[in-house]
Amino acid sequence: MRIFSGIRPTGNIHIGNYLGAVKQWIELQEKNECVFCIVDLHAITTPYDPKELQKNILDAASIYLAAGVNPEKSIIFVQSEVKEHAELAWLLETITPMGELSRMTQYKEKSKQYKDYVNAGLFAYPVLMAADILLYRAKAVPVGKDQEQHVELARTIAKKFNQKFGQIFPEPETILPKTGAKIMSLTNPKKKMSKTDDPKSYISLFDSPEDITKKIMSAETDSGKEVVYNITKKPGISNLLIIYSLITGKTTQEIEKQFKGKGYGEFKKSLAKVLADYLEPFRRKQKELQTRDVYVKEMLSQGASRAKTIAETTMKEVRSKMGLS
Ligand code: AMP
Ligand code: TRP
Repeated sequence: MRIFSGIRPTGNIHIGNYLGAVKQWIELQEKNECVFCIVDLHAITTPYDPKELQKNILDAASIYLAAGVNPEKSIIFVQSEVKEHAELAWLLETITPMGELSRMTQYKEKSKQYKDYVNAGLFAYPVLMAADILLYRAKAVPVGKDQEQHVELARTIAKKFNQKFGQIFPEPETILPKTGAKIMSLTNPKKKMSKTDDPKSYISLFDSPEDITKKIMSAETDSGKEVVYNITKKPGISNLLIIYSLITGKTTQEIEKQFKGKGYGEFKKSLAKVLADYLEPFRRKQKELQTRDVYVKEMLSQGASRAKTIAETTMKEVRSKMGLS
């Protein structure tokens, strides 16, 4: 089965991105043909620094590699290097109803967050995402819960194209992780962890052990002192329990038992240690890759040329079906 997923190179990829998306990719690449994309054209729809973008792209690539994506098996590439993404997005925009786009939760949230940056690209963002997926005729898309609505729209667009111009695209399905689909902010457990928020609210994959400890120790918790999982009454502690569980492979019940009668402080100390140890190889690998820019760039350029071969074949068919040359 062919699988496609993408991540924005906006810096500070955090444990929510990792547990919600990247971790699944590693498992999926064993049995599937995977295409992983660093979506720089998506990243520029919200405020960004052009001077930082190339660095963020290389960071994202080294995160893929540090997390275990195997470039021998999977395709890893940068979206803007395969021009067909932008071309297909334009063509699909001509069959996407405005009404569908204005219903998108992410658009509503982002246009509230960046009131003076509400651009047409932000509005059309989900069409570009549909183009990403459909260009490779991917059958499945591993993402966190926040992207489910966008994949649904990609399905709607595929269906519409097939009906109007003839069958080309499979209708892609979302693959959600069983747990970890939505890791919440450390400073406000009612909000999802997001890299555009205050750094105190997330753990970046490259945070130092000191920073991890500081952030976990000051993470918002709930009244009471018992470490028990209860998402409505104790959203803060429950979020930390989920992170603990995903990192260690222990169930939340086992962790509750481990910390029975011990209070939040001890639990948090242990979580900070567990996280710092778990993320150690990421920090090490990132340091190592920072000195190997040439290797990372070469890998991305090979990825782009493999991606291009697939994209060109699809585009030939799309143009012909739409009556373009
Ligand atoms: P983004 O950083 O928005 O480009 O997201 C990259 C991937 O991480 C997408 O598949 C998202 O669904 C996923 N993701 C982002 N934030 C979270 C979160 N707080 N919890 C779980 N998954 C997330
Ligand atoms: N929109 C996704 C996000 O914000 C990133 C993305 C772009 C993506 N294109 C994609 C994810 C295609 C899956 C498939 O996280």
